[in-house]
Amino acid sequence: MATKSVVGKFEEVRKEADRVNSQAHTADRLMEGVAILLNQLMLKYNWVGFYMLEPGANPPVLVLGHYRGAMTPHVRISLNQGICGAAASSGKTVIVDDVKKDSRYLACSLETKSEIVVPVFAHGKVAGELDIDSHFPAAFTDDDRELIEYCAQLVGKRLEND
Ligand code: SME
Repeated sequence: MATKSVVGKFEEVRKEADRVNSQAHTADRLMEGVAILLNQLMLKYNWVGFYMLEPGANPPVLVLGHYRGAMTPHVRISLNQGICGAAASSGKTVIVDDVKKDSRYLACSLETKSEIVVPVFAHGKVAGELDIDSHFPAAFTDDDRELIEYCAQLVGKRLEND
């Protein structure tokens, strides 16, 4: 079970995300703010970024948006590629505790040990996703998942209203 201080940390970051949401004028600004805040406040979130579905693209493709962390060679990802493609095509959060053991994984940095990808829904459909890489194995607990899904929902709601 998480200690009180760890629970406090998740609450604090969630409130910070609410603050960023209330100050961001557009979904785009919110995505930038979320990438910055998760990368800065969560020590194990070493790369934080959004991939968004390119409007009208056929076949569909995910395009890199706002991110914080090392440069990635993966700026466009098809839905049949990578952990990112798996999350977008299934509409489900994907957590990989050890990226070396997952054949779908597209390497971004040699230091990455684990990854979570959370779909962003707008109007009931996948519009993109929030992708986080960690230098630590199995970095993403249930608390992390809840926090990251919360941030993805904030972005989805803003996309619906933009
Ligand atoms: N690892 C991802 C590719 C994106 S980078 O992590 C930034 C994947 O397997 O889809």
